[in-house]
Amino acid sequence: MTRSKWARGVALVGSGMSKFGSFLEKTSRDLFVEAYLDMQNSLMKDFSPEGIEAFYLGNFSSDLFEKQAHLAPILASWIGISPIASLRIEDACASGGVALRQAALAIASGQYDVVLVGGVEKMTNLSIAQVTEALATAADTQFEIPAGFTFPGFYAAMATAYMAKYKAPREAFYHVAIKNHNNGALNAKAQFNKTIFDILTSKKARAEQKGRPIPTWETEIEFLSDPKANPPIAWPMTLFDCSPVSDGGAVALLVAEEFAKDFTDNPLYLIGSGQASDGALPDRDSLSHIPAAQIAGQEAYEMAGISPKDVDFAEVHDCFTIAEIMGIEDLGFFPRGEGWKAAMSGKTSRNGEIPINTSGGLKAKGHPVGASGLGQVNEIWKQLHGKAGQRQLTGQPSIGLAHNVGGSGQTCVVNIFERRE
Ligand code: COA
Repeated sequence: MTRSKWARGVALVGSGMSKFGSFLEKTSRDLFVEAYLDMQNSLMKDFSPEGIEAFYLGNFSSDLFEKQAHLAPILASWIGISPIASLRIEDACASGGVALRQAALAIASGQYDVVLVGGVEKMTNLSIAQVTEALATAADTQFEIPAGFTFPGFYAAMATAYMAKYKAPREAFYHVAIKNHNNGALNAKAQFNKTIFDILTSKKARAEQKGRPIPTWETEIEFLSDPKANPPIAWPMTLFDCSPVSDGGAVALLVAEEFAKDFTDNPLYLIGSGQASDGALPDRDSLSHIPAAQIAGQEAYEMAGISPKDVDFAEVHDCFTIAEIMGIEDLGFFPRGEGWKAAMSGKTSRNGEIPINTSGGLKAKGHPVGASGLGQVNEIWKQLHGKAGQRQLTGQPSIGLAHNVGGSGQTCVVNIFERRE
């Protein structure tokens, strides 16, 4: 049995992120420093890095991406916080969210009062074949990879199972991509800060400029349905169903609740957190949802003493569009089999019943895997402080949830934050 409450309250007092994208000239160090400085700027009061007692870094594989293992002490030294305890947490694409939860557990235990949490990944210096191979090490390399699976393939298998079970049309996934690009277009830090309509329009203009036949697409759905514009990657997942390959960093500062006001007048409180694990895809009874996500969500709700209805908005792990649809069901926002209808009817848009991925999500904001979980936390920080600019939610949201999945669902961590008056 896990405890249903923290042994001591934990607060988020600062949050920052680098721009996500493809930056051939940058290293993990550069991206991390960019995020760290952004976090410092988010603090309201004087901050002394000497007060940081430990550093938890979420990173999937700097070893494979940059040939640099043992990254946490290197980054700690780079920003001048050595010799504090510095460690790397690896849980595939959930590394950032898990690092935050582990830091919170260390604070709750009473061991530390102030912990820096970072996430970073530098992926784009490898070819797409090398990136795909590196990501595949997060799967079961004995049973899944020899069968020909890649990550787009895993989620394609889940999408096929979901479509068959719930009679979901292919177009439902397109609506997730359109919404997330619409949100990403309002986020200057997003890798794709363009709507799909903008992309369609610029491709038509480019064809005209070059004297080629001008495509006839008038709507996003027509564009996404054209395999020349949106080719299949692993059917039914197409190019625009996939998150991109990305570089980026994100940072959060967690402290014991009793010290939160020393850092800021407006801390956020980590009121619930849950984590669960699972076997590889062949070990599961069902491919149309992610059981670890459901369990992690339930654990987090129980700790927070709330139900899904109390959540004002969520950042849901949309590494592929199907993942968002399964996620909103696993988290209890919609009943099983209803997620695709919610996506199609706009219930998850910024002015819908439960706004999902206001940042643009992994799909449009980008997915530098070890940083993605903390990038989600950065959106929650902004929305709960009313600082999300043009994509700011109305109605003063007070509870935001981050859902971060590792691999094809072998790990899931859910963290829930609250703003208090
Ligand atoms: N969504 C939308 N457009 C994308 C895109 C994506 N995910 N990835 C690339 N593009 C665009 C590029 O901007 C470029 O557009 P342009 O021709 O107008 O300039 C074009 O597609 C080609 O880009 P390129 O970088 O050559 O694409 P690629 O074929 O090398 O990679 C994928 C495309 C889908 C294979 C790659 O993004 C991918 O592997 N994504 C999944 C990553 C992943 O598995 N992460 C872990 C999840 S668990």
